[in-house]
Amino acid sequence: MQPYFPFMNTEAKRNMLVTSALPNANGAIHLGHLLEHIQTDIWVRFQRMRGHDCISVCADDTHGTAIMLKADEQEITPEELIKTINREHQEDFQDFHINYDNYYTTHSDENRFFAEQIYNRCRDAGMIAVRAVKQLFDPERNLFLADRYIIGACPKCKTEGQYGDNCEACGATYDATDLIDPKSAISGAEPIEKESDHYFFTLSKFQDFLSEWTRSGTLQEQVANKLAEWLKAGLKDWDISRDAPYFGFEIPDAPGKYFYVWLDAPIGYMASLKNLCDWTEGLEFDDYWKKDSQREVHHFIGKDIVNFHALFWPAMLRCAEYRTPTAVHVHGFTTFDGLKMSKSRGTFINARTYLQHLNPEYLRYYYAAKLKGVDDLDVNLTDFPQRVNSDLVGKVVNIASRCAGFINKGFAGLLADVPTSTDLIGDMVAAGDSIADFYEQCEYSKAIRTIMNLADRANQYIDEYKPWILVREQGNEKEVQEVCSNGINMFRLLITYLKPVLPNMATESEKFLNVESLTWDNRSALLVGHRINKFKPLMTRIETSQVDAMIEASREKPEAAAADPVNEVAEIEYDDFAKVDLRVARIVKAELVEGADRLLKLTLDIGSETRSVFAGIKAAYAPKDIEGKLTVMVANLKARQMKFGVSEGMVLAAGPGGKEIWLLQADEGAEPGMKVT
Ligand code: 2FM
Ligand code: ZN
Repeated sequence: MQPYFPFMNTEAKRNMLVTSALPNANGAIHLGHLLEHIQTDIWVRFQRMRGHDCISVCADDTHGTAIMLKADEQEITPEELIKTINREHQEDFQDFHINYDNYYTTHSDENRFFAEQIYNRCRDAGMIAVRAVKQLFDPERNLFLADRYIIGACPKCKTEGQYGDNCEACGATYDATDLIDPKSAISGAEPIEKESDHYFFTLSKFQDFLSEWTRSGTLQEQVANKLAEWLKAGLKDWDISRDAPYFGFEIPDAPGKYFYVWLDAPIGYMASLKNLCDWTEGLEFDDYWKKDSQREVHHFIGKDIVNFHALFWPAMLRCAEYRTPTAVHVHGFTTFDGLKMSKSRGTFINARTYLQHLNPEYLRYYYAAKLKGVDDLDVNLTDFPQRVNSDLVGKVVNIASRCAGFINKGFAGLLADVPTSTDLIGDMVAAGDSIADFYEQCEYSKAIRTIMNLADRANQYIDEYKPWILVREQGNEKEVQEVCSNGINMFRLLITYLKPVLPNMATESEKFLNVESLTWDNRSALLVGHRINKFKPLMTRIETSQVDAMIEASREKPEAAAADPVNEVAEIEYDDFAKVDLRVARIVKAELVEGADRLLKLTLDIGSETRSVFAGIKAAYAPKDIEGKLTVMVANLKARQMKFGVSEGMVLAAGPGGKEIWLLQADEGAEPGMKVT
């Protein structure tokens, strides 16, 4: 390679910390989450291609009532739940090529440390107030009910089944206590009013600071304008405590009170970095977070959580003597064919379901092509495959596939050995500056439009010279080689610009081009007298049938059909089955488990020993009905810590659930401990 155009990126090297909002640890990653994480990942990859130092961290947001209840429902501990979900989230992100330097958890020592430290500093600065608050309380479950856990009829339009804060039918907003005939959504009990002390962060004292901070270039204008409206209406103090039972961190000087999940969630950004620093040589936490740090901190978030990131968070950081973020980049919601994601329409698509049908880079590209500031991004299911096929397969990959054959066949893979610059190549190199500006400003749709215009011009160039006709006549060899070498150089520039969006295709292209890692700076060094490799298809077309299949797989089935059809469960090999040690067991004892809705605790005699096993069969069997009976159990299942104790195996049962679940009973002639074959 030889330099041809001057070095263009004159920016000084920057040091940045970049974050995405922390996904809740009570559900799978879906295409809504992916919009943000893809946006962040593109930005980070772009910054690195520009030669900047850019660290990215994320974590699971693990605290709060929803996670506590979900774990209860599954009869596991919240710790178990968040561990499993964390693993799944990390796998989903990796498979979409979203690479965080650290993906951590808010349920960590580091997060507890910073949450306590920030709280203590705010308290010592006189910014924590304690006030009594009246709230609805579930007398059966003994917990205070957040608005979304109270259901009743709307006080205005009387529509049933509305939540405690607003009515989906008429749009009225009200207090949960105004609902007609309110019920706890958790137990169905009638809630009672109860008072308890709550801890407040005195946000109202940060009015002036926030009025200035939100206008200091940290936010998109639209976002700053929205915040100005809230600021004008006056800020209220923020309730940062919740009463036990709550899954989270107990407030140090307030036993039985816990930090509200939204207090320690953004602190999770710090905790994830701190954890990364602990195992990364030369990376210092204070360099990013100390009060006067010159490094940059960028948060990527959705528009629904702006108040937490652009009001509460900077105010708390300021109060606790930490630096505030350099920028909060806000995106809109993801819609499908103009509508909210919906399980019944099959548009509530999990990351894993998508991956079972489609290449992750299709979505990365489509999102990038449509991302425009705070606007909502609509996935049009007809446009999605058309756009990807037409732009990536039809325009970009096409350039390489049209030119590579001639170079490989006619010239043993060797590109022309003199610089064969055209005006177009000059334009393409120069366009890198404005494309970079668009990426920097998170205006990815403008970056992609610019890149695709260049791709159109490159295709026109090849059409104009028609190497497939030139090659038919002897004497045109040099021209064929030059035209195709230009085409390959044009392709190289396009891939350079698309690399933040399509990291896998870029790696494959680097192999084909036989070049080192493409960067913004080395883009101007054209390939001359250089040998390329054999061309392999870099991307295949999306078939609409694949999109249809993904939608079908995501569609919530009516309840009767919801039981997993046999053919949708992964097949196992005989060897997998052979590992399972099935034994006849006698149910020596069956007991109710206090606090568990579905479980019975069984003591099982398997001849050589007895085992304790928790089985979800309470609705189907009374303990006395099964005591003394024989059943079949998996005897070599690793013991599992469940919420109510350790389960040392599993009994075999089948059925749709609830009352209709049948324990597999061994014939009376069998003996405990017999192997089942
Ligand atoms: O809205 C959410 O899904 C939150 N879990 C986002 C938290 S972002 C940050 F504050 F941790
Ligand atoms: Zn109403």
